[in-house]
Amino acid sequence: MSSTLRALNPKHTQNQLLDRYLAVRGRTESLIAPLSHEDMVVQSMPDASPAKWHIAHTSWFFETFLLAPHLVNYGLFDPSFSYLFNSYYEAVGPRHPRPQRGLMTRPSAEQVLAYRKHVDQHMAELLQTPPSPAQHKLIELGLAHEEQHQELLLMDILHLFSTSSLKPVYDRRWNKTSRGRKGQFKAHAGGLVEIGHQGQGFAFDNEGPRHTTYLQPFEISDRLVTNAQWLEFMDDGGYTRPELWLAEGWDTVRSQDWQSPFYWQPSQDGWSQMTLGGLEPVDLDAPVTHISYYEAAAFACWAGARLPTEAEWEAAAQSGQLQQVDDIAWQWTQSPYSPYPGFRPAPGAVGEYNGKFMINQMVLRGGASFTSPGHTRLSYRNFFHPEKRWVLSGLRLARDSHKPLTDEHSSFRRDVLNGLAADHKSIPPKYFYDAAGSALFEDICKTAEYYPTRAETRLLGDVAGEIAATFAPGSALVEFGSGASDKTCLLLDAAPQLGAYVPIDICPDALQQAAQRLAERYPALHVVPQVGDFTRTLALPAAINQRPRIGFFPGSTIGNFNQQQAVAFLKSAKTILGNEAQFIVGVDMVKPVDILETAYDDAAGVTANFNKNLLVRINRELGADFDLSNFAHQALWNPVRQRMEMHLLSLVPQTVTIAGQRFTFAEGESLHTENSHKFSVESFTAMAAEAGWNVAQHWISEAPQVGLFRLSQAAG
Ligand code: SAH
Ligand code: AVI
Repeated sequence: MSSTLRALNPKHTQNQLLDRYLAVRGRTESLIAPLSHEDMVVQSMPDASPAKWHIAHTSWFFETFLLAPHLVNYGLFDPSFSYLFNSYYEAVGPRHPRPQRGLMTRPSAEQVLAYRKHVDQHMAELLQTPPSPAQHKLIELGLAHEEQHQELLLMDILHLFSTSSLKPVYDRRWNKTSRGRKGQFKAHAGGLVEIGHQGQGFAFDNEGPRHTTYLQPFEISDRLVTNAQWLEFMDDGGYTRPELWLAEGWDTVRSQDWQSPFYWQPSQDGWSQMTLGGLEPVDLDAPVTHISYYEAAAFACWAGARLPTEAEWEAAAQSGQLQQVDDIAWQWTQSPYSPYPGFRPAPGAVGEYNGKFMINQMVLRGGASFTSPGHTRLSYRNFFHPEKRWVLSGLRLARDSHKPLTDEHSSFRRDVLNGLAADHKSIPPKYFYDAAGSALFEDICKTAEYYPTRAETRLLGDVAGEIAATFAPGSALVEFGSGASDKTCLLLDAAPQLGAYVPIDICPDALQQAAQRLAERYPALHVVPQVGDFTRTLALPAAINQRPRIGFFPGSTIGNFNQQQAVAFLKSAKTILGNEAQFIVGVDMVKPVDILETAYDDAAGVTANFNKNLLVRINRELGADFDLSNFAHQALWNPVRQRMEMHLLSLVPQTVTIAGQRFTFAEGESLHTENSHKFSVESFTAMAAEAGWNVAQHWISEAPQVGLFRLSQAAG
C-alpha cells in the first residue's frame, strides 16, 4: 500500500473502510509484482483475461459505481476506459469483446497502473466523509469484486504459464498443497436445515435469502479426494469408460482428449503438474485439483458415491463435519446454480452481478488456496460451467445414507431439536442412556455420595423374602428400566417360583449384557429381554401371555417423570400388566438438601460426566458441535417441586449447530436435563391412587431413606 495514499488520510486508523480498501487494492498490486509487462498483456484463452485487464477492470468498477456518481467534480481518468474495461454490464454500455482482451497493447501497463493510482486517490478523497449506507455497500461489493479478480488473476497466470515451454515459476513459495489422510464419510441426519447467508456481514446477493430446506439423511467425506485416489481412477480406465460419464461429459472427454487433470503431464517418474511454483511432481497425498464438473461426477460414479448438493455441503460444514473447507480447492457440488427461494437481483447495473448467470452452471463451495484471505463464507456460492478446468477446483464425495434412520434416531433428533427450540431449553432424561451413559450411571452408583442404589439394595435384601411370598408360582417379573439388573437378583433369589423375567430397557447394550448374565445365572428362568421406551406404548412378549405378571420398577426412576407423566406411566403399566398384577416400585424419599445436592454432584465429577455425556451423544448422533468445556454441570434442589434438578449451564454466550440448525445460548442459560422427584409415603400413595393402584405394603429404609412400595390394583 502506498505511503502517499496513507498520507492523504492522516486519520486512517479512524477510517477502517479506507484502510480495508487500501489493503485489498495493495494486495492486487503485490500479486502482479512477479509479472513482467509482457506477462500482463497476453490472454492465453478466451476464458482468461490478461493481468493488465484485471487490474484496470477492478479500478473501472470503483470509478463507474462510486466515483463517477458520488464524488463531486470527479473527472474520468480516460473516457475510453469505460468501453475497454467494462466486463459484462449491459446497463453501463457496450464493451470491448471479451476474447480480444489480449489484443490490448494500449493502454500500456504504466497507464493502467496510473489509472489505479488515480482511482485510489479519489476513493481516499470520497472516504474523507463518511459514506452513505448505499455507498458503503457498494464499496464492500467493489472490494469483494476485486478479491474475486485476485483469484482470477492467479488462475489466469497459471494458465498462461502452463502454455509456456519454459514452465515459468510465478512464486516458488506458492505451492500450498495440504497433504494428509484420505477422507472418511461422516453421517448427517438430514431433516430440515437452514442454509444461506444470515447476519450483518457482507455477502453476495446470490447467498440469500436464508431459507429452510429438507435433506434426506446423507454421508459426506470429511476431506477432499486425493491425487492418489485420482490415479486409481485413471488406472482403472476412468477416462475411457463411457458408463462412468454424463453424456455431455463423455462427448467432452472424447472431443478434448482428456486423459488426466488439467495441469498434469507425464514425466519420467510418473506425473508432473503445473503449479504457480512451476512444474512439480504430483503429490499423491494432496487433493486433486483442476478438474471439471464432468470429471468430478465421473470419479464419484466410479467410487460408488456422488457429489454433495450445495445444501448438504453447507449443512455439513455448519456442523463442523468437514475438513479442507476453504483453503485448498473449490468443491464441485451436484447443484445447478439457480436462485434461492425469494431471490431478487438488486435494482440497477449491480443487479447484473450474479443473477443473470443463473443458468447452465454448477455451484462450487468452500474456497481455494488462490482465494483471497477471508473472502469466503460457508454460504458462499461460486459457479462455473461444467467443462471448466482452469478453476482451482477439486471434489469431496457424498452418498445416500446406508443406514435408514431408525425410529429411535428420528425421535431423538425431534426431541432434541424441539427441546432446544423451547423458551426453557430441556432434553428428556431417557436420552442419557446410550452405552457410555449407562456405564456412567453404573459408576455413579459406586460413588460415595450417590446413596440411592446402596440404600435400596440393602432394603430390598431385607424385605425380598416378604415380597417374594406374594408371587404366584410361574409368574413373570417385568422390570422397567432394568439397566444392569443387579437388584433383580435379590428378588429372583428369593422367588424361585418365578417362571419368566422380562427386563425392559431403552439401552440395548446394558440390556443385552444383563440378560445374558441372568440367563446363565438362572437357567430355569425364561429370560425375555425387550429393548423399548417405557414412555411409549409397550407390548409385552407373547411368551408370557399365560403367566401372571409382577411389575418391578426400582431405582426411583419413576422420580425422573413429572407428576403427570408418572400417573400416565402407572396407568399404562396397569394396562399391560393386567388386572391381577401387582407392581413393586422403588422411590427415593425427601431428605436434607445437602445430602441430595452432593449425591447429584459427586466430588469425582462422575455425575457431571454423565450429564455432559448427553452433549457427546448429540454431537455424535446428530452431527452437533457442542463444546463441552463451555458447559458446567449443575445440581440443585427445587423445594417447590420437591425434586433434584440437573442442568448444563452455558458458561459463555455461544451458538451451537445441531443437525444443521443453530441454537444460541446466553451466558448462564440452562439446558435442563433431568428431574429426580423425591417422595413421602403420602405423596407417593396419592400419586399411585390417581393411577388406580393401592399401596398394599411399603417399607422405608433407615436414613438416607428410600422406600419400596408394593402396589395392587384398586378395587373397581
Ligand atoms: N433399575 C436400575 C437402573 C436404573 S437407571 C437400578 O435401579 O439401578 C435407569 C434405567 O432406566 C437405565 O437403565 C435406563 O437405560 C432406563 N431408562 C431410562 N428411561 C427409559 C425409558 N424411557 N424406557 C426404557 N428404559 C429407560
Ligand atoms: C435413574 N435415575 C433414577 C437416577 C436419578 O437419581 O434420578 C439418574 C441419576 N441422575 C443423576 N444421578 C443419577
